[in-house]
Order: sequence, then C-alpha cells, then structure tokens
Amino acid sequence: MNILGIESSCDDTSASVLTAEGVQSNVIASQSIHVKFGGVVPELASRAHQTTITQTVEQALEEAEVSLEEIDVIAVTQGPGLMGSLLVGLCFAKGLALSRSIPIVGVNHMDAHIYANFIDSEPKFPFVCLTVSGGHTQLVYVKSPFDHEILGKTRDDAAGEAFDKIGKIFGLPYPAGAIMDKLARDGDTGFHKFPQALVNEGLDFSFSGLKTSALYFVQDKKEDWIKEHLNDLCASISEAITEVLIKKLKRAVKQTGVKTIALAGGVSANSVLREKAEKLAEEMNLSLHVPKLSYCTDNAAMIAITGKMKAELEQFDDLAMKPFASL
Ligand code: KG4
Ligand code: ZN
Repeated sequence: MNILGIESSCDDTSASVLTAEGVQSNVIASQSIHVKFGGVVPELASRAHQTTITQTVEQALEEAEVSLEEIDVIAVTQGPGLMGSLLVGLCFAKGLALSRSIPIVGVNHMDAHIYANFIDSEPKFPFVCLTVSGGHTQLVYVKSPFDHEILGKTRDDAAGEAFDKIGKIFGLPYPAGAIMDKLARDGDTGFHKFPQALVNEGLDFSFSGLKTSALYFVQDKKEDWIKEHLNDLCASISEAITEVLIKKLKRAVKQTGVKTIALAGGVSANSVLREKAEKLAEEMNLSLHVPKLSYCTDNAAMIAITGKMKAELEQFDDLAMKPFASL
C-alpha cells in the first residue's frame, strides 16, 4: 500500500510518501515568518500553507519516485490544530482524493505523534507514551491500536510551550526548545533549582509556574548577566522540565504495569529527556521507543504511518470529513 501523508496543523507544511519499503520522502516546509512575532500567527500560517502545499506534495512524490496514480490512500491531519491551517491541508487532500478517486483517511495529529514510533520499530502493546509537544503534554496508555486512555495531561502550558516562553524571557528566538537543549549541554543543571510543579502528585502536569519563576529570577538581572549565564539557565530549566516528565512517566508505568514505554512529539527530540528515558528504561527493565529526530517534530511521515494503520483497519473517511481544532 502506497500512502501520501499530508500535515498542516500548525506552522509546518509537510508531505510524505510511505510504501511497503518504508518512508520514501518526508518533505517539511517550515514557516520562518513567525520568528519575528515570537510565536505562530494563525492567519499568516494558513496563508503560508496555501502558498507551499502544492510544491511540498509534488516534491514528496518526486523524491519518492512515486506518481499520484500509484498512491492508494491519502492520509491527512484532521485535528487538533489551528483551524485555518488544518483547512488548507484537508481541502487540498479532499481535492486530490476526489479528482483521482483515492480513498482518504483523517488522522488525529496527537495519535500520529504516538504512531511515529512505528515508522522504524514495532512497540508492543500495551505501552505508555509520553507525548510532549508545543501544544500538548500527555501521558497516554495505549492499550491496542487506537484504543487510548489519557492518564494525565497539562493543566496549563505544554512542555514545549514552557521551553518556548522561557526561551523568549531569556532573549532566545522562537521556537526556543531546540536552542535551549543545545545551550543546556554546556551548562550546570544545579545552577538554580527551579520549581517542579505537582512532581509528587498524580499524573497531571503544570508548567505555567515555572515560566513565572524564570521571569522573576531574571527580571532584575541585566541582559549581559543573562547572556553570560545562558548555558546554566537553560540547563537548570531543562532539568526542571525533564525531571517532572520522567518522574510522571515512571509513576504511569507503575500504575499500569506496562513493560514498554515511548516518547513522542517535538520535545521528545530533547537530549536530556531522551537520556533520562533511557536510564528509566534500564532501571525498570522496560523496552523504550523514541522516534528519530525528524519524526519527533511535526512531519507528514507520522501522518502517513497512522493513515496506513487506519486503512488496514478499514477506517476510511469520506469527503464530508471536517477539521477539528481540538479533538
Ligand atoms: O510536535 P511539534 O513539532 O509541534 C506541535 O505539535 O506542537 O513540537 C514543537 C515543540 C516546540 O515547542 C519546540 O520548542 C519543541 O517542540 N522542541 C524541543 C526540542 N525540539 C523541539 N524542546 C526541547 N528540546 C528540543 N530539542
Ligand atoms: Zn505536533
């Protein structure tokens, strides 16, 4: 089965071709227009998707050396995401499906982050997945394909949002997560002990207090001081965020008794989080799955693999399918 995956939920336009041999292409057009605003501007995002979607899909087909006639299923992100952005991908996919009589499958973006783990490996069900992105932070108990129970989620900011907002406070460009990760490598995690909210309590998360704490910590400091201590500041923030994530993941494993864990979403690209997850897996004798870096942040290969799994279960959609901002 040849799948064309299309993703446009936020600020990345992406298209991917998945065949029986695996992912043949995964083209990602990231929108740089938002950098100067320090965050995603929805209206600009949907316009940029409109400009790039045709060439992104064409490039994905070209790179894969697969023609549109050879595509058996189109998988497209249905939600959650920005309504205007979702509409561009969905309308494009529906147009293609209608004109070429290709079956279409709507994909939940959060499911797709989880199933990105199936691109290069085969996690055994049931497993617990820590899904950490710019918009979501969830501990998901994945019992069998598409049978999920959300064990815990953030009560306010997502983990990626915390990285981005705190990075902004430190004067870093948007999105700050990957930059903070790099800077943190040369910093001292013990430089300052930032709060780890709800760490000993249940499976929900809260990161807005950390953001306030970072703001208070640097607000009376000079810009030069922040620059001079940037590595240590980033290391201390990364430590606070990843410690909470890992401790809650550990609690979810104990609660469910699973033997397999997975990471997913943009923040799962974080090197400290990946290291801590490896240690946890070793300590508890668990099998750990982490997508390769290009499948952690938003991409269409994860939409294609999820679409494939749904198509195999005959879970097709029709052209009346509507986008959902929140699922
Ligand atoms: O999954 P994703 O690409 O988009 C959403 O669905 O939100 O995640 C983007 C988020 C951003 O907040 C970004 O700062 C964060 O993932 N991120 C990272 C790293 N790479 C991306 N956060 C921490 N460390 C990283 N290496
Ligand atoms: Zn995402």
